[in-house]
Parts: sequence; structure tokens; C-alpha cells
Amino acid sequence: MHANAVIVAAGKGERLGTRVPKPFLPVAELPLLVHTLRSLDRARLLSSLVVVVAPEREALCRELLNAHGPFRSAIRLTHGGPQRQDSVRLGLAALDAECDIVVIHDAARPFISPDVIHASIRVASQAGAALVAVPAADTLKRVEQVDDETPLSTESSLISPVRTVVETLSRQDVWLAQTPQTFRVPLIRAAHQRALDEAIQVTDDAALIEKFGGTVQIVPGERRNFKITTPDDLRMAEALLSAHASER
Ligand code: C5P
Repeated sequence: MHANAVIVAAGKGERLGTRVPKPFLPVAELPLLVHTLRSLDRARLLSSLVVVVAPEREALCRELLNAHGPFRSAIRLTHGGPQRQDSVRLGLAALDAECDIVVIHDAARPFISPDVIHASIRVASQAGAALVAVPAADTLKRVEQVDDETPLSTESSLISPVRTVVETLSRQDVWLAQTPQTFRVPLIRAAHQRALDEAIQVTDDAALIEKFGGTVQIVPGERRNFKITTPDDLRMAEALLSAHASER
């Protein structure tokens, strides 16, 4: 078995509201992407890491890799596209020729552990498609928005827009998808090609397999493998990474 990872880092990170895209933001003194690559580098079943970056960030990324290496795995850079799905498809085109399993991971999840990566590789090599996910801890509500998103007053941003509960979902049946999402290479390449041909857009790779009638097996993950999306997430990551650095 020959496994590679594709790390998507070509997003703009607009929800964070920073000028620098998320993967290049310093967190506990190192760019977020470097933390994520170091975590993946600890997974000994991965032989190469393909990092997908926006063309205008390639030079910066090369500098970071030189400054913060060496890495055990071979690292290759390739250019991403306008949507995450495009970036993954372009990353899949840059795998080692002999690669048969691909681990697709978000640059914005620095806390992935080697054990979870290895479990996802084992499951994908047997079942074809493996999705790392965690059970929902909170009770889940389906809601609808009943106003037009105009704040009622400047003090009311916490309660506006107004949403009301439509139904309570059964928590046992709901898991929260993370990355890595790990696949046999021909299966996920064919799914991405079909999505391109049929102009299908989804938010994660496992959704393509589901859509085209395949089976995706769950690999239990860890809550600490959260995706850094908001300024609060960034503060939490900073605290965890700083604590980790001072333990060593
Ligand atoms: O925006 P979101 O947080 O969902 O992005 C998840 C991951 O996908 C991030 O690591 C981001 O850099 C990456 N991405 C990408 N190309 C895009 C959009 C997002 O590689 N066009």
C-alpha cells in the first residue's frame, strides 16, 4: 500500500476576517500550515504530502517549508482552484504515480493525530472510502430563519437574524464530519471527474461518493481535530499549541 496526503490550503479564510489567508496565519509562533504539516509528517504510513496553495502564495509557501523543515515525507506544491472541490481535484492530479490511497486533509486542522490518520488509511484500503467524524455532543435542532437578517438594533446582533426551531434531530444518528477523508485513489478521482463533468458542487469529498451511490465508512475521530474557522477557534488553537510547545 502506498499512501499520500493532499492538504488543501488554497482558501481565502474570509470568515476569519484577516488579510492573510488562514493557513499562513501565525499561531503559537508558526504558520498554521506548518503545524498541520508537522502533524501529518508524524503519520509514518504517508510517504508524500501534496500541498495545494493559491498560485500567489507558492513562493511564500516554499520559504516556509525551507525555514521550518526538514520533513520526513516528501512535500510537493501544486496550485488550487476557486472552490475547495477544485483544489482537491487539482491535488489528486499531483499524487505519486504508485499512490493507491489518498488522505485528504484541511490545512486548517492542525490537531490531527497519526493514529486517526492510520485508522482512516486502514478503513479506506478495505472499504474504499473513510470519513473521520465525531458524534454530536449537543442536541441538534433544524431551524428556519424568519426575518430578513436586518439587526433589530445595534445591541441585538446576538439575537438577530431571528431563527426558530423546526424540529429536534435524533443525536444518535448524527455525526460531525471532519477531515481527513481517505479514499482509494481511482474511486475518488473518478468521483471528482464526474462532479466536474456534471457541474456538481459539494462541501466535502465523502459527499461525492455518497451522491454517486458509494459507501463511506465512519472512522471515529477526536474533538480536538476541529477546523479553525472563527477568531474564537484561532484563540483556542493558540492556547492549545502554546501549551503543547511548553510541555516539550
Ligand atoms: O473555507 P473552509 O474553512 O471550508 O476551507 C477548508 C479548507 O479548504 C481550508 O484549508 C482551505 O484553505 C481549503 N480551500 C482550498 N481552496 C479553496 C477553498 C478552500 O484549498 N478554493
